[in-house]
Amino acid sequence: MTRSFPNTRLRRTRSTGWSRAMHRETMLAPADLIWPLFVTEGEGVEESVAALPGVSRWSVDGIAKRAREAVDLGIPCIALFPNTPAGKRSDDGAEALNPDNLMCRAIRAVRDACGHDVGILTDVALDPYTSHGQDGLVNEAGYVANDDTVAVLVDQAMNQAAAGADIIAPSDMMDGRVRAIRMALEMGGHAEVQIMAYAAKFASAFYGPFRDAVGSRERLAGDKSTYQMDPANGGEALAEVAMDIAEGADSVIVKPGLAYLDIVWRVRERFAIPVFAYQVSGEYAMIEAGAAAGVGDRDALLMEKLLAFKRAGASGVLTYHAPVAARLLNG
Ligand code: PBG
Repeated sequence: MTRSFPNTRLRRTRSTGWSRAMHRETMLAPADLIWPLFVTEGEGVEESVAALPGVSRWSVDGIAKRAREAVDLGIPCIALFPNTPAGKRSDDGAEALNPDNLMCRAIRAVRDACGHDVGILTDVALDPYTSHGQDGLVNEAGYVANDDTVAVLVDQAMNQAAAGADIIAPSDMMDGRVRAIRMALEMGGHAEVQIMAYAAKFASAFYGPFRDAVGSRERLAGDKSTYQMDPANGGEALAEVAMDIAEGADSVIVKPGLAYLDIVWRVRERFAIPVFAYQVSGEYAMIEAGAAAGVGDRDALLMEKLLAFKRAGASGVLTYHAPVAARLLNG
């Protein structure tokens, strides 16, 4: 009997723990994580978000404590989202421009508590402030008007920058907003403030729990498909990224995450700019629900998914699992 041997045995390097560690191609670290946090009114308030088990809305004082926790865990940046009280929502989302709105108070509280030990990323879009839940101004025809919206988004971004935001993250998908915001920041004395553009943001079914958290789900009339991208389009995502880079973005976001890893990879290959993946609320909820249903170990499921973003070329990940993941990574 003649035996045959494989030319190459790829299993050799996998045979022991030390060897697997030595050959590991991708590393995940707490510094790869951005932690999204929901802000709500009050003092000493923690409200759990039913659709996101393990995630809460915190009043401003609690947000400052979470920011301190981020620093202690080695998480470099937090992202803030306000749950604006119903009475302050309006058709034009004017509360977004109030220098004392929830967002601005939270920014100042984090800065007071942590100085510059943590980055503060703020979302620019009107949906947490509008009575209709759309990201921009809706005209008589029911269309989200691009240029009128951009003018407001510029003021919203400047309001956040004045309060101390480090990174402005426009998530609205209007055309031309990165350039308009960049110009205003430069002219308004905020040249050092970064723009992380949600460049490729898809009209996704995975945003539901987030809309619960900021109170826009039941308000939202219609959908967002006249501005957010068609999930079928990959080439167009590259056009969006090219446009935002040309307009002055420092980094870009692909959102949602896992179902769009091909986009992350294509952006990484094509452009010399950091790309971040946003593991959105529905993805978080699916991991929690899957683990609860016995699919597998929660921690193992979430770490495998976070690693996949790094392997696909992401510089980092926005994830509600950030503190859980950082704790696991810190051992
Ligand atoms: C708002 C915004 C959304 C998310 C981040 N910023 C929701 C939306 O576009 O409707 C979703 C985040 C998540 O689902 O975790 N412009």
